[in-house]
Amino acid sequence: MLVNTKDLLIKARAEGYAVPAFNITDLQSITTIMDVCQEENAPCLLEAAEPTVKSLGADILQAMIYTLAKRYTVPVALHFDHGRTFEIIIQTIRAGFTSVMIDWSDRSFEENAAETKRIVEIAHSCGVSVEAEIGVVGSGADVLTDEEREATLTKVEDAKRFYEETGVDFLAIGIGTAHGMYKAEPKLDLERLEAISKAIPIPLVLHGGSGTPRLEETPPLGISKVNVFTDLQIPIRNKAKEILTTQPIEKIFPVRLWTEAHKAAAPVAREYLRKLGASGKA
Ligand code: 13P
Repeated sequence: MLVNTKDLLIKARAEGYAVPAFNITDLQSITTIMDVCQEENAPCLLEAAEPTVKSLGADILQAMIYTLAKRYTVPVALHFDHGRTFEIIIQTIRAGFTSVMIDWSDRSFEENAAETKRIVEIAHSCGVSVEAEIGVVGSGADVLTDEEREATLTKVEDAKRFYEETGVDFLAIGIGTAHGMYKAEPKLDLERLEAISKAIPIPLVLHGGSGTPRLEETPPLGISKVNVFTDLQIPIRNKAKEILTTQPIEKIFPVRLWTEAHKAAAPVAREYLRKLGASGKA
């Protein structure tokens, strides 16, 4: 059953759990995640980043997910992750994504707020909800000094002003996470998270979920969506490699190979649903 992302996340925030937003890349990744969510009776939040939207097309993603969502009883939402240009965000809104992210977090506060406000006006008139980001969620490959790390963290007063000026539906914040594998153990600023969630009432979003310690402590403090990509990719790659290196080439059928490889990510997805309290919350 297809639902608006906002409805999933408002419920999550009210009840103190978070919905993992799993980055999908193709049909097999979509069905793997949907099956796990159904088994866990959990809300299913699928997100596609720009390379996926560009390679498959927003309309194809929409068609696959809208068709599949009818076969599952758990609520399913489709989010566009890290939208950088006006054009591609509008394409995903038109295609029927249930939410979009405008990521201008590397611009000035004023530019980020102005562009977010413009997207919010358009998206809301189409019934689509909007995520934006304030603060910096960099790459886990970067090892930052304390001073550099401090500069990436979201300031409480900025988050409040941004929310008030833009009317954004959910907000990604910097509290010490980063995308990809961590080179250095991340330190989460949970006090800052608590202060931000006290200052603004909307669901908060954590990017860079993979490999992050103390994740389970974040939903009661206001995190309602946690993005997860890298931790799903590792078992998929390993399984594909195992099949390709152990089976005779004439026995390998690409569709079976790829389906089996994706299924290797199911236990990881299940672990995130349970850790964040989303299991049983459909
Ligand atoms: P990870 O790859 O670190 O899980 O981050 C995913 C993400 O934040 C996508 O927006």
